[in-house]
Amino acid sequence: MKVFRLNVGIREFPDFKECAEAYALDQEDLILTNEYIYKPSISGLDLPCMTVFQEKYGMGEPTDEMVDAILTDLEKKPFRRIIAVGGGTVIDIAKVLSIAEPGERMDDLYDHMENIHKVHELIIVPTTCGTGSEVTNLSIISRIKKGVKQGLLSPAMYADEAALIKDMLLTLPYHVFATSSIDAMIHAVESYLSPNACPMSELFSENALEMILTAWNRTVREGGRDAWKKYAADLLRASTYAGIAFGYAGCAAVHALSYPVGSVHHVPHGQSNQLLFMDVIRKYQEKKPIGKLNQLEEMIGNILDTDPVFAMNTLFKLMDSIFKKDSLKDHGVTEKELPVFTENVLKTQQRLLNNNYVELSYDDILDIYRKAL
Ligand SMILES: [Fe+2]
Repeated sequence: MKVFRLNVGIREFPDFKECAEAYALDQEDLILTNEYIYKPSISGLDLPCMTVFQEKYGMGEPTDEMVDAILTDLEKKPFRRIIAVGGGTVIDIAKVLSIAEPGERMDDLYDHMENIHKVHELIIVPTTCGTGSEVTNLSIISRIKKGVKQGLLSPAMYADEAALIKDMLLTLPYHVFATSSIDAMIHAVESYLSPNACPMSELFSENALEMILTAWNRTVREGGRDAWKKYAADLLRASTYAGIAFGYAGCAAVHALSYPVGSVHHVPHGQSNQLLFMDVIRKYQEKKPIGKLNQLEEMIGNILDTDPVFAMNTLFKLMDSIFKKDSLKDHGVTEKELPVFTENVLKTQQRLLNNNYVELSYDDILDIYRKAL
């Protein structure tokens, strides 16, 4: 069994003001964020830090061109620490900025991935409740010049600290809360079922799942678009717990199958996972009905107050009440693409497929896609 280690210091703060005071943010610090986050929560504090708005360099998922342009601009502004305040894109970019030596660009970093080391201290403040990226050492950047989405993975990219601030979540639009917490729930399930899990990582998966499902259940019961905000602290903590769990045990088939859907049809990450989740679990139930899946069913049954036999269907229904699940067709996927996606998954996603609860063949994967169509 490999070593289970918490690689990132974790602190919780009630608001950004206390966070800024605790870290004594000064003029040598760089805040990487988005303007819509900065304006309501940070600008009023009149911090002396430098600020970079990520969206100035491009929208959507992070690319090598965005990172290179930021690195070029930062050459004139030497800085000491990076404070990343944002969702997945901001965090992934900040991880790369923290390991780039002056003058280096993305291609250089990919060229010597094995020699990467930390150049800037990194503090991450997540503002969604899904990625768990604040506690992982992976950054996924689209290499536009090469036409591939490539992960940079290095122990040097762990944040020094993750600062969890519940208040930062409160301005999230409902659909971002919904899809990001769905992503975190799937991290918890996939890491729990992974054959590479260990009792310690399972603790984090279980706790994350319990907090998310309880928050969802209450949100649905109480009704209204803002009911989830009462549970923001739990949802944020759960997302970090699930990040710790999958950082060790890995994500699996749901993430693997959702990658081609997300990148070809531009479906946001949490939502593209949701499109596949139910049919992956049903395939697991069909192929290996007896196994660790039963422990998961029992756990979910306990949380949702139902018999383990009905646990998964109750979970699918609850998830649907939080955010209505679409079919792949709703996002423009066609029958003709499915064999191509299947080949692509088998060829490029072995890292994730190795964490599957049960081995999935070409036919199994194609069948999951067909059912989700
Ligand atoms: Fe994810």
